[in-house]
Amino acid sequence: MLAKKTVVLGITGSIAAYKAAEIASRLVKAGATVEVIMTEAATKFVTPLTLRSITHRPVVTDMFADNIEYSPEHIALAEAVDVMLIAPATANVIAKLAAGIADDMLGSTVLATKAPVIIAPAMNVNMFQNPVTQQNLAELKARGFTMVDPAYGRLASGKVGVGRLAEIEQIIDTVEQVLNKSNDLAGWRIVVTAGGTQEPIDPVRHIGNRSSGKMGYAIAESACDRGAKVILISAPVALPEPAGVDVIKVKTAAEMKAAVAKAVAKADALIMAAAVADYQPKEVAKAKIKKTSPSLTLALVRTADILAEVKGNFVKVGFAAESEDIVANARQKLVKKQLDLIVTNDITDPKSGFGVDTNKVTLIDRDGKVENLPLLTKREVAGKILDRIAERLCPKP
Ligand code: CTP
Repeated sequence: MLAKKTVVLGITGSIAAYKAAEIASRLVKAGATVEVIMTEAATKFVTPLTLRSITHRPVVTDMFADNIEYSPEHIALAEAVDVMLIAPATANVIAKLAAGIADDMLGSTVLATKAPVIIAPAMNVNMFQNPVTQQNLAELKARGFTMVDPAYGRLASGKVGVGRLAEIEQIIDTVEQVLNKSNDLAGWRIVVTAGGTQEPIDPVRHIGNRSSGKMGYAIAESACDRGAKVILISAPVALPEPAGVDVIKVKTAAEMKAAVAKAVAKADALIMAAAVADYQPKEVAKAKIKKTSPSLTLALVRTADILAEVKGNFVKVGFAAESEDIVANARQKLVKKQLDLIVTNDITDPKSGFGVDTNKVTLIDRDGKVENLPLLTKREVAGKILDRIAERLCPKP
């Protein structure tokens, strides 16, 4: 897996920095080219010479050092890398990465790379448990960084707690897993819908819903990172367009239906994460409705069920927002809409569903397999859904 891959190993100023030499050695033995970037603090714990001797590559320590050509070569590192691993990662560096600070070579490379980034934190237990650190880690996770959680044990301070760098074996395994997934959807075309549709009442008003689009956007981004060609059909949201994804903007359920019908003609999978309005005003007033009468009744008519009506030879994934009898209700929808997989979220859980970065879902597939997932970031949920799609697109031998 690691043969002929380029791994950028970022080492930061933790007492566990000496273990990075062993990590580098393991990666080199497995056939990877290892480019080491050390923060200034890291060089106080382990010498660049040690890493250079192990990797047979120059070690970058200072963005402005005389012996390093300051050229686009540095950004070339960010582009050539297959995976970045920061081990050990201190609380300080994690905070800087979460804020997008690029005042040294490590921060600049992380900011410039499109490759997956793995973070293996190591620090004092109190620093690790501090809500600021936890918030920074959650922020990075939500952006798609992979964490190798620190272990429980005796720390350098003499205290016992969570904060020790994870076992080297586990770190190497994670690098392999991330590499394994980094291109597993290459060649597949995936259509994702996201956001809540808006059904106009008059020129200034509409019927909408609380969908933020975060789940669908996380799926689109993640699928693109894994090599798929992605079309994202998006109802209005307040999110930036994901890089590398073909975004088609729509407003109403009818527009979304037309865009989906066109996009699936050449698709291998459709993931309907959008919250599509079930009803639309029977008539759209041409002029703004004035508040002349004490009450107003709007006549609504059903919209088309896009997911139920779309036909074709592709993997079909739907969502279901449920509050009771979750599995039974979702199963009914799976059958009715002829889906391969349905993702149900329990909307009674405040950490799940609309607007938040986390989701707690159950995956049910057409073969009857039910998988209850714990509370995860939407990016992690996206990963699990795409794992299932990858299994269907390229079944294991
Ligand atoms: N969906 C759709 N077209 C609609 C309504 C929903 O394609 N007009 C899709 C959604 O994108 C989602 C799934 O169908 O993937 C949700 O199904 P739905 O039956 O609407 O379930 P809920 O939203 O959970 O609502 P309810 O239980 O009220 O039917």
